[in-house]
Amino acid sequence: MKMKFLVLVLTIGYIHLTHPCSIFAYIGTKLAKAHVLKCLARLEYRGYDSAGFACFDLVTNDIVVLKKPGKIEKLKELALKSPCDGYAAIGHTRWATHGQATELNAHPHTNNDNTFALVHNGIIENHFQLKQQLLQKGYTFKTETDTEVMVHLLDAGIKETGDLKEAALKAVNQLKGACTFVGLHKNFSDTLVVARQRAPLCIGIAEDGMHIASDFLAFADKTNNVFFLPERSIALVKAGAIYSFDYEGNSLPIETKTVNLQPSAYEKLDHEHFMLKEIYEQRTAIERTVSYYNELGDELWPQLGLTKQEARDLASINLFGCGTSWHAARIGQFFFESIANMPTAVHLASEFRYMKFFAPKDSLFIAISQSGETADTLELIRYFKQQHARIATLTNVETSSIVREADGYLLIKAGPEIAVASTKAFSTQLTGLYWLAHRFALERGLIDEVAMRQAEHDLCYVAQVLEQTIEQYEVNIIADAPYYAQFQRLMYLGRHVTYPFALEGALKLKEISYIFAQGYPAGELKHGSIALVDEHTPVILFSHQNQTIYQKLVGNAQEVKARNGHLLVFAFEGQDELIHLADKVYIVPKVAPLLEPLAMTGLMQFFAYQIALVLGRDIDKPRNLAKAVTVE
Ligand code: AGP
Repeated sequence: MKMKFLVLVLTIGYIHLTHPCSIFAYIGTKLAKAHVLKCLARLEYRGYDSAGFACFDLVTNDIVVLKKPGKIEKLKELALKSPCDGYAAIGHTRWATHGQATELNAHPHTNNDNTFALVHNGIIENHFQLKQQLLQKGYTFKTETDTEVMVHLLDAGIKETGDLKEAALKAVNQLKGACTFVGLHKNFSDTLVVARQRAPLCIGIAEDGMHIASDFLAFADKTNNVFFLPERSIALVKAGAIYSFDYEGNSLPIETKTVNLQPSAYEKLDHEHFMLKEIYEQRTAIERTVSYYNELGDELWPQLGLTKQEARDLASINLFGCGTSWHAARIGQFFFESIANMPTAVHLASEFRYMKFFAPKDSLFIAISQSGETADTLELIRYFKQQHARIATLTNVETSSIVREADGYLLIKAGPEIAVASTKAFSTQLTGLYWLAHRFALERGLIDEVAMRQAEHDLCYVAQVLEQTIEQYEVNIIADAPYYAQFQRLMYLGRHVTYPFALEGALKLKEISYIFAQGYPAGELKHGSIALVDEHTPVILFSHQNQTIYQKLVGNAQEVKARNGHLLVFAFEGQDELIHLADKVYIVPKVAPLLEPLAMTGLMQFFAYQIALVLGRDIDKPRNLAKAVTVE
């Protein structure tokens, strides 16, 4: 009997509509079409429900729009057949929520006389009200999208003022929400009109022109000289110049940053998927992160926005994030409490900002985010800031919005993470949290320099274990995957620090294989979920090295076996009783206390990857997902 899942959603007051997407645009001295499509493809991890392109066509002197539902390959086929091209063009890939993933709802959207085309990343929260006003002005709407409101607002402004800057200012000052866009008008074909509000946007300044993108990864092979548009700003971008303004129309300086990115970062090299490449990159990423921390020395505290004395006097830590970053925070809590002896609270950013909260004084709030662009986490930063909380961030992207909005930051050195499912970011987040907890303990006199170096050594040893266990069990996991791929649901169990790790294991499998998986505290099993245990629900159990906790987990394993449950165990060397209970077992060498999750991370991710591979899933771009969730 095929299992059908009923999803119940509790809405509180209002429903948020979200759609992270990717934008790439170009204006310069060379023909744009092929270049725009190539660079847009690098950003497709941000949304892949439809793709579109528009240019000011040199032959017809018209705005020509091409768009297709589905992956960008479909758009490329269409574009190849079309003769249109020009020196100014805009492109977009979409993650649909507001209106079906159809050709009609795909971006770019145009005004009623097709003289203006626009691509948008974000959501217009007051689109309904604005639409009513525009309908009264005689505008007609072709699509279900919120974006069309923005096109008509700008069109009205251009008709009224005949000036792109004035029209953009009029429009952005009426829009609420995340409203980052790039527009191209027939009468201003030497200029792209751009705005940044919430969702990120940057401009790569190169010899051959201006490359505008949601992420500089798109044009990294072109230039490393980048202008990151400030929040709530507009810009007029020409082939050789950028004019930036705030929402009052005041000029803003064009301050560029040099970003260094290895082209191999956005190539799969000889791996079938970015996810597999990034799983194998973890040892190097962890070692690179540890050596970066080691070199930081006393620069750490000012970079985190603290003085040494403040680091000594802090009373507590608050960690927060979403998805995998929230799981890392849950594991980090054990590090700060056990190693630095600091009371630590963890908050789920997508939920917490609606809670009544009194920010404790003398606490450091650490936002954990790979991309540094997750809107829920950004919004919680803004919420805590209203309460004068001190905010730092642990992130993978130094040029991200979260670094700009926090008081301080600490980087993880994972390198660009392209696959939607987070892998090396997770392991380097655990590395960062473990190292920082030790650094606080050192500053607060709980440990000495020798113990600090030992912690760095333990991290590098675990990085080795992570890599070697994948090599050791690669063949086994590839052989085992078809067995697990046949099931509709799996349960992941852990205790203490391996419970949040079980949450991460379940998320990894869910998001790339579409199999329903639940991470669960093993101690809670007998309080309900053990009712799910039968021959249709394999149980994945993550062990622990602490003897007391291990014994409890042995008890849980016996409970599962007593109900004919299939048991796959991730055990540590010498844990014979648990190993003998298991139907399948992957054994990991002993590591430093609390580093159990990091030691098992490679195996856990490779296991999920192989199951998704057996099921033929689009592993790097799983359905319904996007890499950076840039609106709430
Ligand atoms: C993880 O595999 C997912 N991509 C997702 O849960 C992600 O961790 C979450 O959206 C948070 O992203 P961030 O770390 O970039 O803020």
